[in-house]
Amino acid sequence: MDFNFTDEHKMIIQSAKDFAIAELLPGVTERDEKAIAPLAQIKMMQEMGFLGMMASPNYGGEGMDTISYVLAMEEISKIDSAAAVVMSVQNSLVNWGIEHYGTEEQKQKFLVPMASGKEIGAFALSEPEAGSDATHQKTSAINKGDYYLLNGTKNWITNASEAKYFIVIAQTDIEKGPRGISAFIVEKGLTGFEIGPAENKMGMRSSHTHSLMFTDVKVAKENRIGDEGFGFKFSMLCLNGGRIGIASQALGIAQGALDLSIKYAKERKSFGKFIGEHQAIAFKLAEMEAKIEASRLLVHKAAFLKDSHKDYTKAGALAKYFAAETAMWVTTQAVQIHGGYGYVKEYQVERLMREAKLTQIYEGTSEIQQIVISRALLNQ
Ligand code: CAA
Repeated sequence: MDFNFTDEHKMIIQSAKDFAIAELLPGVTERDEKAIAPLAQIKMMQEMGFLGMMASPNYGGEGMDTISYVLAMEEISKIDSAAAVVMSVQNSLVNWGIEHYGTEEQKQKFLVPMASGKEIGAFALSEPEAGSDATHQKTSAINKGDYYLLNGTKNWITNASEAKYFIVIAQTDIEKGPRGISAFIVEKGLTGFEIGPAENKMGMRSSHTHSLMFTDVKVAKENRIGDEGFGFKFSMLCLNGGRIGIASQALGIAQGALDLSIKYAKERKSFGKFIGEHQAIAFKLAEMEAKIEASRLLVHKAAFLKDSHKDYTKAGALAKYFAAETAMWVTTQAVQIHGGYGYVKEYQVERLMREAKLTQIYEGTSEIQQIVISRALLNQ
C-alpha cells in the first residue's frame, strides 16, 4: 500500500483547508448557536466542485477518487462538520446512487445539475419507525401505471431544506419484505410533498434536518431507480459508501479537537508549567493521536478498496465504527484538557463533542456498524 499522496491529493488537502479556515471558521460558533445554515459557503463549495467530487466529468462532476473526497471531508470537518455533512450526503449517497444505478435520462436530468454544483440532493430512507430497521418501510408507492402514488413520512433528512431532488425509498409490495422496496427520485414542489420544521438538534445545528410528508404524491414511473424491488439493496449499496464519508467526517472532528488541545496545552499553565508538560495531559494527547491515526488508516483503506473496485462493505463499517467512537472519545478528552474553558462555547471543543455524538448515530449507528462487521466475519 502506498502511503504517499499524489500532488493532486496534496492540492485538495490545501484547498479544502484554506477554504475551511477562510470561509467556514468565521461565524461557525454563531451559526451553530442560532442553527443558521451556511448557505453562502455551500454555494462556494458547489462552485469549487466539492459537491460533485466523485461524479464523472461526463455528468458535470470532478471525476476524483474516493481518497480525494475523504481528504477534503476531513479538512472541512475539522472546522465545520455541519457543512461537511451536506457534502457527504450529496457525494456518497445521492450522486453516487444515481450515477451507478440511474438511467441515462435520470443522470442527465438530476445528476448533471447536482454534480455540476447547481442543485442539492437529499436521501430519504429513515422513517419514524424505520431507522436502523430500514426494511420496515411504511411509506408506500402504489404502482398506477404511468406513475406511483407516494404516501408516508420520512424522518431525519439531511439537506431537506436546501435540496431540490430527493431519493425516496418506499415500499411497493409489502408481501415481499426487503425485496418489495423501491427507490424513486422525487422533486421538491410536487403537489402533496411537504417538508416539516427543522429539528432542534444537540449538535451539527447548522445542518438542517427535517421530516418529509407525502400525501398522494404522483411520482413519474421514469423516476424509479432500477427495477421495482431494488430499493432496499440500492440504499444499502449507497450506505456502504456513505459510511466512508461519515467516517472521514468523524476523523476530521477528532483531528480538529486534538489540534485545539495541542494549542491549548502549549498556552495554558498550571503548577508552574505548561499543562502539556504534565504527564496527565501528555498521555491523553498521545492516546488521542494513536486513535486518530488508526481511524485515518481505516478510512483511507476503505476509500482505497472502493477506488480499487473491491468489496468495501466491511472496511467502510469498520472505518465508521472506529472513527465515530474515536471522535466521541477524543472530543470528550479535549473538553477535559480545556477544563472549565472546554465547557464554554469560545474554545470550540464542546461543539466538536456535540458533533461527534451524531457520527455515532446517523447513517447507521455504531451498533449497526458492528452488525455489518460481525456479519462479514461470520459469513467468511
Ligand atoms: N451492501 C449490499 N447489499 C446489502 C447490504 C450491504 N451492506 N446489506 C444488506 N444487503 C442486501 C442483502 O444482500 C439482501 O439482498 P438480496 O435481497 O439480493 O439477498 C438485502 O439487502 C436484504 O438483506 P438482509 O436481509 O441482510 O437485510 P437486513 O434487514 O437484515 O438488514 C442491516 C441489515 C445491516 C441491519 C440494514 O438494515 C442496515 O444497514 N440498517 C441501517 C440503515 C441505516 O444506516 N439507516 C440510517 C440511514 S441515514 C439517513 O437516511 C439520513 C440521511 O440524511 C442520510
